[in-house]
Amino acid sequence: MTDIIDKKMAKENVFIINHPLILDKLTRIRNKKTEKKDFQENLTEIVSLMAYEVFKDIPLDDITIETPIGKTKGKNLTKTIIICPILRAGLGMVSGLEHLLPNAIVSHIGLYRDESTLQPQEYFFKYPNVENHEENLVYILDPMLATGGSTLAAINKLKAVGVKNITFIGIVGVQAAINKIHKEHKDVKIYLAALDEKLNENGFIIPGLGDAGDRIFGTK
Ligand code: PRP
Repeated sequence: MTDIIDKKMAKENVFIINHPLILDKLTRIRNKKTEKKDFQENLTEIVSLMAYEVFKDIPLDDITIETPIGKTKGKNLTKTIIICPILRAGLGMVSGLEHLLPNAIVSHIGLYRDESTLQPQEYFFKYPNVENHEENLVYILDPMLATGGSTLAAINKLKAVGVKNITFIGIVGVQAAINKIHKEHKDVKIYLAALDEKLNENGFIIPGLGDAGDRIFGTK
């Protein structure tokens, strides 16, 4: 049986979630024949499966409740969780977490990658008016970590607000992008469903899954 997480990589704050159910669904979304509806459904399911690993150490508070039979001690999730999709493609990952974390706040970062320079261009940022930036748990969502520029820009933006606990959840990415992010932000945990080979000359991940934004929203 293979480990779900490579322990050596985990020490470097990189978590590639190697699970048969994720691999099966990932293959479906990589397949160019998979159409919009199936792409979105499988993407949602992958994110929900990844959540099992991503949230396994999340702190809980003690609580006393009453069952229909009597009192018992239990646990509840009181931490403020902020899900931060990078527009547009990150939006396709939100529902996979939202149904597990109904109280999570959704913050949006609008970034698109300039096609010629591959540099991220910011066009929107909406962060919630919450307290305790240092304690809140923030999860950036984007299916693709290509050059890493968009995620790096999102991390810088969130840290400028005062956020300390940042985790990135992606689907496919390359090692060079991970290195680029960790060179500046070693503290950010990076979760992916797969580590891919490289980028092509247009900055697309190989083998990747194409342009996730276009496949989610049917724009190409
Ligand atoms: C894609 C993708 C990431 C970014 C990854 O977005 O969804 O946000 O590129 O590339 P990077 O790691 O090199 O920055 P895109 O610019 O296509 O915008 P979209 O999601 O609106 O389609």
